[in-house]
Amino acid sequence: CGIIGFAGKRDCVKVLLSGLEALEYRGYDSAGVAVLNGKILEVRKAIGRLTNLKSELKRDPVGGSIGIGHTRWATHGEPNAINSHPHTDAKNKVAVVHNGIIENYVELKTQLMEKGITFRSQTDTEVVAQLLGYYNTGDMLQTMQKVLPMLRGSFALGVVATDAPNTLYCVRSGNPLIIGKGDDANYIASDASALLTYTRDIYVPDDFEIAVITADNITFYDKNGQPTEKQTTHIDWSTSSAQKNGFDHFMLKEIFEQPRVIADTLNHYIDADTLTLRRDRMPFTRKQAVLLRQLTIVACGTAYHAGMMGKALIQQLAKVRVDTEIASEYRYSEMLNTENEVVIAVSQSGETADTVAAVRKARKNGQRVIALCNVIGSTIARETDAVLYTLAGPEIAVASTKAYSTQMLLFELIALDLANLRGELSDEDLKRHLTELLQIPAKMEQILAQKETVKAFAQSQCKCNDVFFIGRLMDYYSSLEAALKLKEISYLHSEAYAAGELKHGTIAMIDDATLVVAIATQESILEKTMSNVQEVRARGAKLLLLTNYPFEPPVGAELWNIPHTFDEFAPMLTIVYLQLFAYYMALQKGCDIDKPRNLAKSVTVE
Ligand code: G6P
Repeated sequence: CGIIGFAGKRDCVKVLLSGLEALEYRGYDSAGVAVLNGKILEVRKAIGRLTNLKSELKRDPVGGSIGIGHTRWATHGEPNAINSHPHTDAKNKVAVVHNGIIENYVELKTQLMEKGITFRSQTDTEVVAQLLGYYNTGDMLQTMQKVLPMLRGSFALGVVATDAPNTLYCVRSGNPLIIGKGDDANYIASDASALLTYTRDIYVPDDFEIAVITADNITFYDKNGQPTEKQTTHIDWSTSSAQKNGFDHFMLKEIFEQPRVIADTLNHYIDADTLTLRRDRMPFTRKQAVLLRQLTIVACGTAYHAGMMGKALIQQLAKVRVDTEIASEYRYSEMLNTENEVVIAVSQSGETADTVAAVRKARKNGQRVIALCNVIGSTIARETDAVLYTLAGPEIAVASTKAYSTQMLLFELIALDLANLRGELSDEDLKRHLTELLQIPAKMEQILAQKETVKAFAQSQCKCNDVFFIGRLMDYYSSLEAALKLKEISYLHSEAYAAGELKHGTIAMIDDATLVVAIATQESILEKTMSNVQEVRARGAKLLLLTNYPFEPPVGAELWNIPHTFDEFAPMLTIVYLQLFAYYMALQKGCDIDKPRNLAKSVTVE
């Protein structure tokens, strides 16, 4: 879900709507605003996309200079106007927007119902609004201090109350929330992208720290009610990152941004003059690298696939044992610690609830945790021992593209660095690898230049119902990501298989309406994958082959050449073709590419 709030001297509705537009990628089941006009609190909500809320506001306008807004990804209660936020108390004096889950809401709701409070929605959030209403002392800071300890779970809350017509309140625990400091207005938002037009100076509140915000002032109070001093952080993301700049979709724009963001990330970590890694930006000292026995990578979704790639790279180059685990599994699984084990958490947003929980579990267990993250000041970036930032800039499309390729790049750098520090790769070989890495942006451009070929092939596959992606080792991990991209934006059934595993069951599903996409970029297993290609071809599947090696494809197969590079870098190129393929498949099906159904970019609930 996305939260926005405004405290200023001008009308807030425009700001709330523009903020919600920027946050819509976090959820788009329904949206709403609550606006204070003096002592009058007015709420407007609408199911579905933000345009419906805009129409509702045209039909039935509201005005005022203090307000909160919300765009929802449903957890408790189906998406409808009643369940959408903001929620209000029984007397309509307090309005709340919430991101997260109140785990003990049933218990709290029962207690309030016994006291005679009637609930309107099925949400956990309404409990917060009703509690704040029920215990309202007339001073919302005091009321929040009383109510917050009753809540279990995770939350980011924005609150307005008629008793304080010029004030906006917010607090968080475990969910993202930032406060933007403007010239004649102040803001709250789930992330900085919603505020870039208004301010670059943000505060990141600590858990349970309440912010009391007016047009001219922001005051923070710690858990114990004591005022605290905070420093702003300056965000230098450009506003153009949050605009489409002539592309039809954010996803296409972000695919095309990859050469630039890869170059930016390379420049950040590599000193191109000396062809060395910048030591102060790498996470291991020589001693730590030598002592390292085990790495565990935790992540969700696309970041998990980058983590799988990390496993292959680090094991292959640095000869360190690596396990990559899905964060939602890791957080509940038995931990068998190895001495000198380090955990790496990968997350674009730095806010994914399961990954945050995995980080906390590892740290509680005394492990050193390193984050690969794209968002400065995010929870994971703040709670880990070291952070390596991907310099991908804001990623707006729900389907991750440029964040994934920069995450892979960071694993390439970590693997090379560890290999060098552990004596598995000479300084000279490291330089050779870094020189080649610096060529990756130009090679990505070569693939992007093939977009019409990809588009035409996607059009030729309009009748296809099932797509299998196959490959071995790193090509298998590329397959996982390619299959996810395709299913999340085109809703087409797709699966990834380790090429050698296909014959143990799934090959039964292959017929002439199936497309098999085979990836073969690793010389050591090239022939093996090619045998699997022949097997599926013999069963009538249509075939698309991606390779960086000269290969005569079977008759009738489509071939996409990957510019030649070191085998370990090829996945960064392969994925560009497959992101474009997913994009054009979804485009011809008329899908909502940037906001696929049922998904959200940041899943900040468990
Ligand atoms: C959501 C998104 C995915 C993303 C995953 C992890 O499910 O739809 O695209 O890969 O969360 O997000 P993170 O921000 O932790 O990388």
